[in-house]
Amino acid sequence: MGFANWYDAHILPRIIRCGCSQGQIMKRRSNVVPLASGDVFELGCGGGLNQEFYNTAAITRYCGIDPHDGLLESARQRACDRGWDHEIVTGFGENIPFPDNAFDSAVCTFTLCSVQDQHQVISELRRILKPGGKLLFLEHGRAPDLSVARWQNRIEPVWKRLAGGCHLTRTIASAISDGGFVISTLDQEYMPNTPRFAGWMEWGVAQKNGA
Ligand SMILES: C[S@@+](CC[C@H](N)C(=O)[O-])C[C@H]1O[C@@H](n2cnc3c(N)ncnc32)[C@H](O)[C@@H]1O
Repeated sequence: MGFANWYDAHILPRIIRCGCSQGQIMKRRSNVVPLASGDVFELGCGGGLNQEFYNTAAITRYCGIDPHDGLLESARQRACDRGWDHEIVTGFGENIPFPDNAFDSAVCTFTLCSVQDQHQVISELRRILKPGGKLLFLEHGRAPDLSVARWQNRIEPVWKRLAGGCHLTRTIASAISDGGFVISTLDQEYMPNTPRFAGWMEWGVAQKNGA
């Protein structure tokens, strides 16, 4: 096993769990995830960090995918412990292994930054949602301030290598709108006590309109 593979298998999951579970991030998860209802799909569900925030009484089924097998084990264990009807499988957001119009809610937190093809993934999220279904998102992305965005451009190549392909410069809300969603709620801010290049957060609710 080369260093890169060893890093991805052993170090990266710890960095992701640690970075994604700090207090400010967990607080924002608690604003978004409890809005999920009905049959729920979670993209990049590895690690299972969102599970504690679901309103169990409101969800009828929980499905999730993540390409990282090492993270999925703990997501499965947590879903079992909660007694959920669940299906958590290995997969990529660019080709979600679930049928059209299958879900009432899709949850996507800190994952659009890491996928290969953000536009294809948003299109897949739209495909698997029922008409009127909601996409609940919480992502970091391209800062609105030019000076911060310039630093994001500079840092991104190294950051991507260390953080599992995570991009710093992706737009979030506009990409979701461009993908055929109507955003009904949107919050945006720099996360406190976080370097601005990694701290621009966007979260909210978007609706799939039409068929
Ligand atoms: C920063 S972690 C966030 C994990 C989790 N969503 C959370 O909020 O804690 C990014 C996740 O995206 C997953 N990921 C990377 N590429 C992906 C893809 N193409 N499709 C789906 N998930 C992907 C990674 O394996 C990882 O679990």
